[in-house]
Amino acid sequence: MKRQIKKLIAVFYYAPRGRKLRESWAYIQKMQEDPALAHTKFAQFKKSQDNLKELVEIMTETLKDRVINRKSYDDKLKKLLFHPMAGPNDSIHDAEVRKLILRGVEIMEGSKDPLHDISHIYRCMRTARMYFSIYRLKEKLDWGIIATAIAWHDSSRAKNPGFFYDAKLLKPLQIIPFMVDVSVILSARVDAENSVKLFLNETHNYKLDTLFIEQVENGLLATSNHRKSRAEARDNFYGKIISDVDLLDIYTIGRVEASWLNIKENNRRTAQKYINRSFLINGFMKQKHKANLALDESLSIFEFNIHNLDSHAKMFYPKHQEIIGL
Ligand SMILES: [Fe+2]
Repeated sequence: MKRQIKKLIAVFYYAPRGRKLRESWAYIQKMQEDPALAHTKFAQFKKSQDNLKELVEIMTETLKDRVINRKSYDDKLKKLLFHPMAGPNDSIHDAEVRKLILRGVEIMEGSKDPLHDISHIYRCMRTARMYFSIYRLKEKLDWGIIATAIAWHDSSRAKNPGFFYDAKLLKPLQIIPFMVDVSVILSARVDAENSVKLFLNETHNYKLDTLFIEQVENGLLATSNHRKSRAEARDNFYGKIISDVDLLDIYTIGRVEASWLNIKENNRRTAQKYINRSFLINGFMKQKHKANLALDESLSIFEFNIHNLDSHAKMFYPKHQEIIGL
């Protein structure tokens, strides 16, 4: 009990230092080149090396090179949008749909929220591609709907992260961190709903099929923090995919590393303590998130991500791990 209280106090007021930044980047690179370095105690990953390589690449992707190497980043992104298994009638072949997806990507590229950046969309999109390959025939899925919903699902947070993200305000408010958390939690509660509004507003500029818009809207609501809307949206298979890929990304090495990188790049050290608390809350929510997964494949990927994030943290930022229990 005493230890838990100490931990809580530390999380509110202490921003741990001593991360082995360069070493952790180098290790990520090594792991991408040799996926066998990943911890794979889960039998199905041992069977297929291709599958394992894909999972390691997704789990560790931070898009760190997006500013330095714009060209390779753009190529990477384009490759993501068009799925080779998408059928001839798939909405992804519609120029209007592609324009709409790219508009969502553009919003996310400008995101000021360290936890919801373009790399989050990239990782979610890649996991969704795997699911599309598995389920596309059985469930008659449309890749354009999935890609659009992923590109837009955090648009509200990216566009309007709330004034507590403002560096000038965040600094004095660190004295009363609870206020920052309440503000962020309140805005997070309506994130998906606000993303729907932004999305619907944007669709007025495009010629789109009504059913397509409805399905994307449902996909966005599958990430809602309102239990009822989320559960309803997940009755639909698109909802199941979008909800699962979003939940799986919470516990990736890429998500944690990218958020630290965003803080560093934007010189917003004041946000570090908030990020620590977010990690702590996610730690508490682990079991709930796991119980919310809808697809069979997601359970093993969830364990795989958590296991690897845990060992990565132990190696490169043990102080963080000890205090915020990543
Ligand atoms: Fe998300």
